[in-house]
Amino acid sequence: RLLIIDFGSQVTQLIARRLREANVYCEIHPFQAVDSAFLEEFNPRAIILSGGPRSVLDDEAPMPPMKVYEMDVPVLGICYGQQAMMQQLGGKVESGHHREFGRAFVEPTGAHTSDRIFRGLFSHGKEEVWMSHGDRVTALAPGFEVIGTSPNAPYAIVCDEDRRFFATQFHPEVHHTPNGRLILQNFTRLAGFSGDWTMGAYKAEAIAKIRKQVGDSKVICGLSGGVDSSVAAVLIHEAIGDQLTCVFVDHGLMRQNEADEVVSMFRDNYNIPLIHADEADLFLGELEGVSDPEVKRKTIGRLFIDVFQKHAGDIGGAEFLAQGTLYPDVIESVSFSGGPSVTIKSHHNVGGLPEKMGLKLVEPLRELFKDEVRALGHELGLPDSFIGRHPFPGPGLAIRCPGEITRDKLEILRKADAVYIDQIRKHGLYDEIWQAFVALLPVRTVGVMGDGRTYDYACALRAVTSVDGMTADYYPFTHEFLGETASRIINEVNGINRVTYDITSKPPGTIEWE
Ligand code: XMP
Repeated sequence: RLLIIDFGSQVTQLIARRLREANVYCEIHPFQAVDSAFLEEFNPRAIILSGGPRSVLDDEAPMPPMKVYEMDVPVLGICYGQQAMMQQLGGKVESGHHREFGRAFVEPTGAHTSDRIFRGLFSHGKEEVWMSHGDRVTALAPGFEVIGTSPNAPYAIVCDEDRRFFATQFHPEVHHTPNGRLILQNFTRLAGFSGDWTMGAYKAEAIAKIRKQVGDSKVICGLSGGVDSSVAAVLIHEAIGDQLTCVFVDHGLMRQNEADEVVSMFRDNYNIPLIHADEADLFLGELEGVSDPEVKRKTIGRLFIDVFQKHAGDIGGAEFLAQGTLYPDVIESVSFSGGPSVTIKSHHNVGGLPEKMGLKLVEPLRELFKDEVRALGHELGLPDSFIGRHPFPGPGLAIRCPGEITRDKLEILRKADAVYIDQIRKHGLYDEIWQAFVALLPVRTVGVMGDGRTYDYACALRAVTSVDGMTADYYPFTHEFLGETASRIINEVNGINRVTYDITSKPPGTIEWE
């Protein structure tokens, strides 16, 4: 495996993405966690030092342990990683006279040592790269030579071929360094990775790991109907069969037919033992009169844990709790500010549950990114229509119904949402959109239908494009699509007489309305 030591760059995750795309397995660990003992245990076949916001000239600048350079493995330093490498190995770094951000063009110096790292590059003489740094290297460490330069960065790429140490001042991992992936790929090839990490191999390894971890014990898994928990459940079932029981907590806030679809998918198609906890009365009862978004979220989170715990107790003797935790949730982010970040929304998850119930965790997706989970789902035979579903939040329709929730409102919302999604599918847009839904507004407006007056709810359509849900932009539907959808909703859904389209990006908005 390849180890990426994270010094806090905003784009460290992209290094992992690029390597995984080249079928190389890697893990990101924050610099604080990497000491000699860790390196010994991890036993990397190659190491990448990421960029970072600090200056290596600062008193307490984070540095990798010297052991990184003593393990006889290839090392690649990127930006801050380059400066750290130079400083630690005897070169010199100075604070830049002018900071350099953005596009630059790198040329090879012609040093013969560059052959292996430059394979496939410079076919047109220069390579476009993306720089983002304040400090720069001003003297090379012994053994190094310059193999690529740019007008503002004489040490754009340096290397010590004998020790297989490479370092770039620019970021090869970002989109704006179009051929950067080749540099990363060449680096992994010279480290001996053959690029044969496939989902099929991953699945086999994951199954073996689950069997080893769980032994003869029982495992319980909370199913939400979402892709992550579903893939986790099917994978674990393939590993340990009926030692797994799934609990589907139906809070009455699911979309149209969703609860039935989830239950039949797992019971009928996969034969996975499943407890369907139909607790709509409990949840909707407790939510009566609640209109504050945070109170809604906290109420749902609390009840969810109670219900899950009750049913899990009924199974008896489970030692493990399975969760569909993904890699982006796992990576400890490097934080220099130290201050707690502001809570925008209390996210619904089952955090705290394992401790409360004295359970150990099985998290077979911990190493995967979202699209890799989809690929694994595909490998496990889950239908593509299921794998490609838009994300759906844990608190369900509760947060798409601003203000007080009632059964009537939920019914109206379900119908409108079904028409909207049907429209999107019919127009072939579902896979282009990251997430789409209807929010039912707590406003009634006057309309006229036929010869009569109506006084019904207004709704808002939402559709966004996004990569990870952290930032998002509204989807540019045609006016024709919007017009057709609005009239279908008003004609087909009793209770709605006005349709609006939400064109707020995130930030400043969020994707959900609450
Ligand atoms: P926001 O609304 O914060 O949402 O922009 C970002 C993404 O997260 C989903 N979301 C949740 N998912 N539990 C979840 O599992 C939650 O409590 C929750 N709240 C929001 C939201 O649907 C979007 O995909």
